Amino acid sequence: MTKIGLVTGGGSGIGRATAHLLAARDHHVVVADMNKENADKVVQEIHSAGGQASAQRVDVRDDDDVAALFVGIKDQFGRLDSAVNNAGITGPIGPIHEFDLEAANTILDIDLISVFVCLQQEIRLMQEQGSGSIVNLSSIWGLTAGANYAAYTAAKHGVSGLTRAAALETAQLGIRVNAICPGFTVTPMITDQGLKLQRGTKEFEAAGAFHPIGRMGEPEEMAASIGWLLSDEASFVTGHLLSVDGGFVA
Ligand code: NAI
Repeated sequence: MTKIGLVTGGGSGIGRATAHLLAARDHHVVVADMNKENADKVVQEIHSAGGQASAQRVDVRDDDDVAALFVGIKDQFGRLDSAVNNAGITGPIGPIHEFDLEAANTILDIDLISVFVCLQQEIRLMQEQGSGSIVNLSSIWGLTAGANYAAYTAAKHGVSGLTRAAALETAQLGIRVNAICPGFTVTPMITDQGLKLQRGTKEFEAAGAFHPIGRMGEPEEMAASIGWLLSDEASFVTGHLLSVDGGFVA
């Protein structure tokens, strides 16, 4: 039977790789992203590979957008098996005492509150069917602290706590909730935002060297761990924060 999957921020990076993986594992994947053009591209790639997917433009900060996304999933498919709360930003980098408050609010809103709002909707849908698996995107900064990333660190620690609380609340409902905590991963978030690390540069190599394995992660390596947590192979795993970081927090 085709399962139904949802990946927020599925138009790029880790979300894109995860959408591909779920499609290859018999899911119809709803690729939800505020960048509809990118979401459409990912859907086309999945169709070309013989998979099933559809795109939806959603700003996860917008409660109406999120409500419409889940009404659409319920109306079209009547169920949701796998959900990945992945949409996120890093925002500007800088010390707390100089940090723009509006930027901090935006980071907390997208990276934490939106995960809470999506979780609410996902749990309501999955509760009705008595099954489902959810993975949230936390970070190494959801386990340890990044100087000059205080708002992002606070948001990701929030996601880690939210994951564990949600797991406790849903364990008796047949729902599992886990998170992965990626190290630096080569996506547009790293290459185009924040530090703007380009492959082949000294700075790129230096950021890789923070990880004991000696390099940054690739989106497909994150997708593989997300896919495992979502799968029945992880049927006794809930409330877990899985480091996928080349040993960064070891
Ligand atoms: P990315 O920038 O490649 O992709 C993020 C996607 O989220 C984009 O398609 C973007 O359009 C979408 N998005 C952003 N704000 C949105 C909003 N308000 N509504 C809907 N969609 C929105 O980033 P990447 O690296 O794939 O990040 C995915 C997740 O992984 C994020 O939660 C990030 O914090 C987390 N992460 C990434 C790490 C990295 O080094 N790349 C490390 C640790 C965690």
